[in-house]
Amino acid sequence: MRTQVAIIGAGPAGLLLGQLLARAGIDAVILEQRSPDYVLGRIRAGILESVTVDALERAGVAARLHREGLVHHGIELAFDGTRHRIDLHALIGRSVTVYGQTEVTHDLMDARAAAGALTIYEAEQVSLHDFDADTPRVRYTKDGRQHELQCDFIAGCDGFHGVSRQSVPERSRQIFERVYPFGWLGVLSETPPVADELIYASHERGFALCSMRSLTRSRYYIQVPADEQAKDWSDARFWDELRRRLDPAAAEALVTGPSIEKSIAPLRSFVCEPIRFGRLFLAGDAAHIVPPTGAKGLNLAASDVLYLADGLIQYYQERDGGGLDGYSHKCLARIWKAERFSWWMTSLLHRFPDADAFARRLQQAELDYVVGSAAASAALAENYVGLPY
Ligand code: APR
Ligand code: PHB
Repeated sequence: MRTQVAIIGAGPAGLLLGQLLARAGIDAVILEQRSPDYVLGRIRAGILESVTVDALERAGVAARLHREGLVHHGIELAFDGTRHRIDLHALIGRSVTVYGQTEVTHDLMDARAAAGALTIYEAEQVSLHDFDADTPRVRYTKDGRQHELQCDFIAGCDGFHGVSRQSVPERSRQIFERVYPFGWLGVLSETPPVADELIYASHERGFALCSMRSLTRSRYYIQVPADEQAKDWSDARFWDELRRRLDPAAAEALVTGPSIEKSIAPLRSFVCEPIRFGRLFLAGDAAHIVPPTGAKGLNLAASDVLYLADGLIQYYQERDGGGLDGYSHKCLARIWKAERFSWWMTSLLHRFPDADAFARRLQQAELDYVVGSAAASAALAENYVGLPY
């Protein structure tokens, strides 16, 4: 089989790329190792920057997002028993949209099916070949039979554990990484959110986040030690710990209920450089990871994909490879700014086991500064709503 672009991975990065290419008349086949149900079963973050919403509009998949997404003009920081509102819209003139990544993935899958574009699910043993030459190929096994896909380019959109980045010899890539000594225990519940906007809480006992998926479905997280197990957390223990980390008004207002999902995610910062190797382009979690504190994961995946789609469209429509040549450099400039912001939000709000008294005082001073200074609030807001492309 032959296609113009072979896309590895049907997460939001691979599906969005496929959709932007399909609308430009460029043929792409997606190879995904899991089933559609498995892909849709993964619960991930749910905050979209306004530029991500623009990208989804361009891909023609924003109708339901505009109907069902919740536009948030601010967020709240809670510490020392009080909440402080950061008015994103007043400070920066832009807002964010609450719309789950699962829903984004759903909409993209529906659009791909409607366009009649090919996604091969449950493709096993995917391997990448000759991307340093003009004729790259991807091999995979489906239902026990081996297949080969010939293409002009390979887009590695297969997430952090995918095969694409690992197909590049170690001597050709440099890795920058920080692993944090804690994780997030997350609970999804069919309960109304505790407040109208997200609450990021910094507390002696650890960080907590109150988020939502809709007006009837909430998503909560608490910081836990890195070696903690979700099975050791009953719903009652989770709600009790969450309540203790919130300000009294939120603790009082919290509506609890049975968890629909409960899982622990480790926190990591990770960047691979470069992210283009000949005719292989990495995008999304395959190229970088951020801790979830700034909600940048999905948004960064979308900006990579937009740059890549533009580069490929320029190549096919104008026979100009300039956009593809600049891909790695352009993406990494935006990636590192989001890495910095996510690391900073994480450092500001979490309890670090090795923090001494001096480090704690600095953290308290920085929290005071962020909510007390219009300039510092604006810097947070500018990054939270997303830097312009
Ligand atoms: N072969 C084929 N598919 C693969 C392989 C492989 N060897 N390895 C992984 N995949 C698939 C995964 O099953 C998954 O569906 O690639 C897809 C990658 O999707 P995501 O992990 O969602 O990554 P991405 O599309 O870059 O989305 C980034 O997702 O993880 C969050 O925080 C992240 O929100 C961000 C967004
Ligand atoms: C989420 O709703 O899952 C979420 C929201 C904001 C974050 C991280 C996760 O910063």
